[in-house]
Amino acid sequence: MFDREQFIEDCASAVRQGDRQRAVQEVVARAMTDPAAVLEALGQPARPGPQIVRASDSITILNVTWPAHCVLRPHNHLMWSVMGLYCGRKDNILWPRLPGDGPSRISAVGAKSVSTGDVLLLGKDIVHSVVNPSSRISRAIHIYGGGYFHTPRSEWDPDTLGEKPLDLEAFLRALETKS
Ligand SMILES: [Fe+2]
Repeated sequence: MFDREQFIEDCASAVRQGDRQRAVQEVVARAMTDPAAVLEALGQPARPGPQIVRASDSITILNVTWPAHCVLRPHNHLMWSVMGLYCGRKDNILWPRLPGDGPSRISAVGAKSVSTGDVLLLGKDIVHSVVNPSSRISRAIHIYGGGYFHTPRSEWDPDTLGEKPLDLEAFLRALETKS
């Protein structure tokens, strides 16, 4: 059984521990042992995009609904994160900065595909782009180790791979308006 309020409390408690990301990973991994219960407890938002479950300076918990075939361009978080996928699929392309890339360019060096029940950890400095390869909606709990909505971050132009400030409003709108 998944209890939404207990989950929030467990995550808040986890970020007060020494290794915050690992502690949150344990909380999310427990929840992902029963993805159907998470789906039932969080509901099934018809509208794609993020729902705020909890937002503070130390932790942001989002329930994100991903439209079919949605693509999000490369971006960073500048804080650790843990994602638990409780419905569908997501493919992450990883773009860590490499020596010689210069101050603003990135290179794709890996990928991590997650399916229902999987938990993904991303480091503070990672850059990733995300695809929902499925023809169905995907759903995930995203937990960030900080204030997601007021931390200035970067995105990378998909054509030039040049860095620019992340326009969060446009970024999230792109997620919401995909069909
Ligand atoms: Fe991201």
